[in-house]
Amino acid sequence: MSHKVGVIGGDGIGPEVIKEGLKVIEAAGVNLEIHDYDLGGERYLRDGVVLPDSVLDEWRALDVLYLGAVGTPDVPPGLIERGLLLKMRFDLDLYINLRPFVVAKSENNEGHDFMVIRENTEGAYAGEGGFLRKGTPHEVATQGSVNTRHGVERCIRYAFELANSREKKHLTLVHKTNVLTFAGDLWGRTFQAVAEEYPSVETSYNHVDAACIYFVENPQRYDVIVTDNLFGDILTDLGGAISGGIGLASSANLNPERTSPSMFEPVHGSAPDIVGTGKANPTAAILSGALMLDFLMEDEAARRIERACADPKTQNGSTSEIGDAIAAQV
Ligand code: IPM
Ligand code: MN
Repeated sequence: MSHKVGVIGGDGIGPEVIKEGLKVIEAAGVNLEIHDYDLGGERYLRDGVVLPDSVLDEWRALDVLYLGAVGTPDVPPGLIERGLLLKMRFDLDLYINLRPFVVAKSENNEGHDFMVIRENTEGAYAGEGGFLRKGTPHEVATQGSVNTRHGVERCIRYAFELANSREKKHLTLVHKTNVLTFAGDLWGRTFQAVAEEYPSVETSYNHVDAACIYFVENPQRYDVIVTDNLFGDILTDLGGAISGGIGLASSANLNPERTSPSMFEPVHGSAPDIVGTGKANPTAAILSGALMLDFLMEDEAARRIERACADPKTQNGSTSEIGDAIAAQV
């Protein structure tokens, strides 16, 4: 059987790392029917197109989407992020952003893995706010955070299901309930309520600032973390930094009910400073490909790819050399 994949290489190093990801998936023996889409900052600069509704409609007929990175220095900040990436997350209702991390064994650290479940369709990313008297000495800018019971609950429930399926069965809510007393209260109450349905899952709570210290000093305390959109964005960059660097950090934007195609992308950006140099590590994109295969029920191929990526022997050389080494091992 072949899976229908929409491929958006995007800008900068995006196409370079996606090429390696597709190479590795092919080497793993999984058949993909590839539909290529030329979208991103470069495309916008060429003809003003960001994400036509007709493309979104085409995507609905696909199984999954595989994205490299989007963003070009000459495009105003937010235009491609909001118009393409966030539009995909919102319009396709990809409400779970799953980001796994592997902390390597070290002197004072037993090596372990943990996952962050980031709410992906609400919070500060919903774009609530605006200007008043913009450009005058009395200007006002507001930026809200949208938290719905429905949105928070489905995210928390997904995290409980995930934690329940893992060996440690531990779930930590990360928020800032001492200051964000409205949103924090909703998250806290919803977490308590859903916890009752999962008596076998052990739970805890950390403020986000404290979580930053624990990420660096004691990440072993974590198994699954659930948090809001903006905290999850920041915390997962830190997660990348403590687990081998952002060049290894993978992510899945999931619609768990499969009413639209889920999207898989490395956490890193388009890194225009190193484009064409062969310095980009394709491992984050390749591991995002493994998450994609997991979602497509190709677990066995996904495990082989993860094992090859974890082998330090595959982690030397240029973008294509790393891709070749991983492809050879799977
Ligand atoms: C990420 C990125 C995006 C985000 C940007 C590019 C809009 O940083 O996927 O973490 O903030 O979600
Ligand atoms: Mn980010």
